[in-house]
Amino acid sequence: MFHRQAAQFAVALLGFALFVPTSLAQARLANVTILATGGTIAGSGATSTTTVGYTAATVGVQNLIAAVPELAKVANVSGEQVFQIASENMSNEHWLTLARRVNTLLAQPNVDGIVITHGTDTMEETAYFLNLVVKSRKPVVLVGSMRPSTAMSADGPLNLYNAVLLAAHPDAAGRGVLVSMNDQIQSARDVTKTNTTTTDTFKSTDLGMLGYIQGGKPSFYRAVTRKHTTESEFDVGALTALPQVEIALSYANVGPTQVEALMAAGAKGIVHAGVGNGSLPARVKPALVAARAKGAIVVRASRVGQGILARNGEANDDQLDFVVADTLSPQKARILLMLALTKTTNTREIQRMFYTY
Ligand code: SIN
Repeated sequence: MFHRQAAQFAVALLGFALFVPTSLAQARLANVTILATGGTIAGSGATSTTTVGYTAATVGVQNLIAAVPELAKVANVSGEQVFQIASENMSNEHWLTLARRVNTLLAQPNVDGIVITHGTDTMEETAYFLNLVVKSRKPVVLVGSMRPSTAMSADGPLNLYNAVLLAAHPDAAGRGVLVSMNDQIQSARDVTKTNTTTTDTFKSTDLGMLGYIQGGKPSFYRAVTRKHTTESEFDVGALTALPQVEIALSYANVGPTQVEALMAAGAKGIVHAGVGNGSLPARVKPALVAARAKGAIVVRASRVGQGILARNGEANDDQLDFVVADTLSPQKARILLMLALTKTTNTREIQRMFYTY
């Protein structure tokens, strides 16, 4: 009798020992830091129907968090106001500051993920920059909104809730920097803003989004194959500035003025946003050739928005010693070229980087 009771007690003890750590682990919420930078998600307008002509970047991070009490159910959330700007004013210096803060926070064992609130106008650029310089597998999610916080049916609160639950979720780790808007998950590399005002503006066009957020959980259907974050060779650690790289846009009747002016202003690299498959207009080509002769790196990209920029297609890149942007938009090619120039001016090496990231 005594033996049977002792055995039952031992089994109960074992069950308790196994159960308690599991349930405690399940109960532990992830620690997510929200780094606020401004944008429409922190914007306010005169009336609830003001959805254009409002003022971006007026609401502080603590008020953004307070407006979504449901955040406390998905993560232990803390907030930092890093900047308070409309994202058309985002600069290389802002990026260096933000990247350093992200890397410092993610190196801490008590930070599980980061959400960055950001204006939507240049969100894809900040996301791609971070995708190349963040040194962690922990989730980093950029989020914004298309309607200001004061608008009827403002999209900011649910976007923020989704971004926090994504940053808190183990499935989001190791996928590079993510953009979460409108219940969708996009890769920093491929996403772009496609509509001036509607809430379904962020798309990864023909390469496709990574997944959805539905019913309080993220579901991933694809992964990016290009290198990012912990596999990237770029590092902002010692940098105080980024090399000057500019974009010259081509269109019917375009002349050499942009390229010449950019070179006179000290550009170390020029991304040519060409028509079609990156064609070089007859009056622009000599200016680009002269720029290369002066040591600037020339990257051929396209203003079209989709497709691969074919090397040695519309121009003899081998002969001209130019680089092609692969599928990167001109604005993302500018970012990769800036980082490439922190490592090398060798065009073969830079071309390798464009096929790697
Ligand atoms: C901005 O980019 O800061 C303004 C526009 C927006 O956030 O949607």
